[in-house]
Amino acid sequence: MAAPSTVRTVAEAMSSPAVTALPSETIEEVAARMQAAGKGSAIVVDGDRPIGIVTERDLVRFAATGAAAADTKVSEWMTEPVDVAAPDLPVIEAFARFRTNHYRHLPVVEDGRLVGVVSLRSLTELAQIQPVVHPSTIEAPPGLEGVIVAETEVGDVRGQEGFYHYRQYDAVELADKLPLEDVWHLLFDGHLPTAAERDAFLAEVRPLRRIPEPVAEVLPALAASSQTVMEAVRTAISMVGAVEGFKPTLDIDHAERRRNAMQLCAVMPTLIMAVHRLQQGLDPIEPRDDLGYGANYLWMLTGEEPDPDKGRGVEQYQITTIDHGFNASTFTTRVITSTGADVAAAVVDGMGALSGPLHGGAPSRALDLLDAIGTVENARPYLVDAIQRGEKIMGFGHRVYKTDDPRSVFLRGVAERLGADKIDFAKQVERTVVEVLAELKPGRNLYANVEFYAGVVMDHCDLPRELFTPTFASSRIIGWCANLLEQAADNRIIRPSANYVGPPPPQPLPDDAGR
Ligand SMILES: CC(C)(COP(=O)(O)OP(=O)(O)OC[C@H]1O[C@@H](n2cnc3c(N)ncnc32)[C@H](O)[C@@H]1OP(=O)(O)O)[C@@H](O)C(=O)NCCC(=O)NCCS
Repeated sequence: MAAPSTVRTVAEAMSSPAVTALPSETIEEVAARMQAAGKGSAIVVDGDRPIGIVTERDLVRFAATGAAAADTKVSEWMTEPVDVAAPDLPVIEAFARFRTNHYRHLPVVEDGRLVGVVSLRSLTELAQIQPVVHPSTIEAPPGLEGVIVAETEVGDVRGQEGFYHYRQYDAVELADKLPLEDVWHLLFDGHLPTAAERDAFLAEVRPLRRIPEPVAEVLPALAASSQTVMEAVRTAISMVGAVEGFKPTLDIDHAERRRNAMQLCAVMPTLIMAVHRLQQGLDPIEPRDDLGYGANYLWMLTGEEPDPDKGRGVEQYQITTIDHGFNASTFTTRVITSTGADVAAAVVDGMGALSGPLHGGAPSRALDLLDAIGTVENARPYLVDAIQRGEKIMGFGHRVYKTDDPRSVFLRGVAERLGADKIDFAKQVERTVVEVLAELKPGRNLYANVEFYAGVVMDHCDLPRELFTPTFASSRIIGWCANLLEQAADNRIIRPSANYVGPPPPQPLPDDAGR
């Protein structure tokens, strides 16, 4: 026996008979007929033969003119001639016609005679044709896990291997061997700098570290009215864009976009420390041109020249966090850039995404965890209890890494080299967390992420906890900007779709609506 045909045709989706109208009738008459039948179109006929169509859209356009429906003829508003479909037309072809011609109703004609009407809505009501309605739609998994949304040369994370890189160079090796500005140059300009290029780059960066005067003037008020450093700095970044006259990325060339991005990356650490000091009732400290990146960062915190190891330790943390694939804040920055908005707008939104505890807002919480556990003996009972209550252990687990996070391994080494106070305890807690998670969450492959040892390193380098997330932002901004420059250079607006799961539309308005 032959298999039944799976090709669905217009005959299955059409409504029959169609609502019809004569060209000589009034708009009022045809509108009343369409409403009574609950249909979105009336086919204008000459006998049995369709000669035109009037749709809801025509009625809305007509209503907007304010003309009297009782005095206006259908012939004045109908669309003619009208395209028609045969009943045996496959729905996929009917849909293609709707899409190509941008209409939503098709009269169905057999032997020259009107037999019904098929609408885009009636096609969508056939559940089987969902893929036909959106031929290119792919249902993405929750959290967009594993979905590739762009091509990039900035870098990549290989979760299974525990490896990530910036423009082909192992990021951990870069953090181990190079100053931050070299890596910044690599990300912005595509290659590691020569000695001359490094000098030129530093000469470009230094003046940009200074806070523009109009921003410096309002910074005390911003600092005073913000609960966190991140809140004040993201407002200040927005203001830098405003006072420096940043224009939409759509309207400027690469050189100008790069200039804007350079300025924000350079001024961010200065803003962070200025806001922090103002919140402590202290005056901001000017950046120092003769210090390395991390040493200058700590200098602006205290006004004292820091221990070089601590300066380098912070800088190494900052290098490891410059970029990391399509994380939430990088994606956010690219989405904003894809609209053509200015560089400051994109960075401010990246900061917003980063501030969430599931992304960058956690490093201080990882250290809080060490405090809460308190002693090695307490680690296991504390952790078992927390996990059984459904809590997440801060500083553990990662969307992409299903093995050791290379940043955590590297920063553990940095903390050991620095002789950080909490390192031994942290290592014991790490071992216990991994063991307990393996027992209670088997198969999830949960290990320490970047945040766990980041807290230990920053704490040892005298950064207070409220500066952990801002310090993450101080270097991640370079990754955001490298991504936004790439996005702007080859842009298409990022605009995905959602599955509507509410009551089937359109529902009539409640009788008391608007009263
Ligand atoms: C990083 C993080 C947001 C990734 O989230 P994700 O990819 O959506 O992973 P999920 O939350 O789906 O985790 C998968 C499973 O592992 C568990 N899990 C993940 N991280 C966990 C953690 N830190 N502690 C306890 N359980 C954890 C989840 O409960 C889930 O278990 P289930 O299968 O029983 O539901 C998540 O691991 C987390 O919240 N970690 C703590 C916060 C943190 O350290 N953030 C900084 C990230 S750099």
